[in-house]
Amino acid sequence: MHNDPSEFEAIIERHSSEKQYLIPILQDIQSQFNYLPPVALATVSKQLDIPMIDIISVASFYNAFSLTPRGEHVVTVCMGTACHVRGGPKILEEFERRLKVPAGGTTENKQFTLETVACLGCCAIGPVVVVDGDYYAQQTIGKVESVLKKYASKEKNNGKPREN
Ligand code: FES
Repeated sequence: MHNDPSEFEAIIERHSSEKQYLIPILQDIQSQFNYLPPVALATVSKQLDIPMIDIISVASFYNAFSLTPRGEHVVTVCMGTACHVRGGPKILEEFERRLKVPAGGTTENKQFTLETVACLGCCAIGPVVVVDGDYYAQQTIGKVESVLKKYASKEKNNGKPREN
């Protein structure tokens, strides 16, 4: 899957195949394929004449990039101290139970990837869950199902934070 360099060449050419556009190129690939396939990295390396090791180090540095396949929707549960004491671990357990994957995993149908984060920087509204960039404040176990339902049948969106 995604082993054809031509799939990525068009994206690279859109950015004039210039080294300075490495990050926007990786962003476009990530957004289209939900991760950075190995062939994509090799094609970028060749077309931009940047050593593979440098590309991997950029891709590993930024959280927005993933080197392994991700689901269509990314659920991030905050496990920072403030969210932890307000029930973060129980909420994570409920996501794990409903999605049938452990934290860090992707569902078999590739619909959801479940991740954790140390702190999202909005501790006052915790426990916090983020799905595809949408923030859900003051989460409880009882709200997990409705959060998942919103995304289960919906295309990936780059939506703004929504009210809970
Ligand atoms: S600990 Fe969760 S937002 Fe800071």
